[in-house]
Amino acid sequence: MKTAVLYQSRGGNTRAVAEVIASSSGTIAKPYTEGLNEPVDRLFLGGGAYMVDADAGLKDFINSHLDTNKVKELVAFSTAGGQKAALTKIVELAKARGIKVNENTLLIRMLLKGHTMLGLKGGKLSNRQVETIKAFVAKL
Ligand SMILES: Cc1cc2nc3c(=O)[nH]c(=O)nc-3n(C[C@H](O)[C@H](O)[C@H](O)COP(=O)(O)O)c2cc1C
Repeated sequence: MKTAVLYQSRGGNTRAVAEVIASSSGTIAKPYTEGLNEPVDRLFLGGGAYMVDADAGLKDFINSHLDTNKVKELVAFSTAGGQKAALTKIVELAKARGIKVNENTLLIRMLLKGHTMLGLKGGKLSNRQVETIKAFVAKL
């Protein structure tokens, strides 16, 4: 199965999750701005939650730049302090483009880890979070 992993990340948390997903799927995680070069069976697409929403650039990418013909199925993931806002938005926008979205989604709660406004460094996952991500990919 051909898989791609694209992410949006300001502080590194979502990138760290994307990298675990990618290594578990035999591929490499890339920023969403790189887009898709070739058709994939499964696209993991993720981003962080900011002000109870997904990043504006990521939303624009899904709305206007993601080549829907290249995506057989999308799996949404997100990191957040605690809220599902970005995850819900990714699913909603992808569905609105007619993309088949897997009903399984992955939300990794970071609490205040990597909260850039508080000067906290992101991108460090606990062993438990890494195991959760690997198990999610394995179960799909
Ligand atoms: C400016 C800002 C706003 C945020 N707003 C929310 C929010 O509304 N809800 C939430 O659950 N987390 C919120 N967070 C926490 C982030 O979603 C969390 O740190 C996430 O892991 C960031 O992903 P990133 O490191 O990939 O950028 C916010 C963080 C920042 C820096």
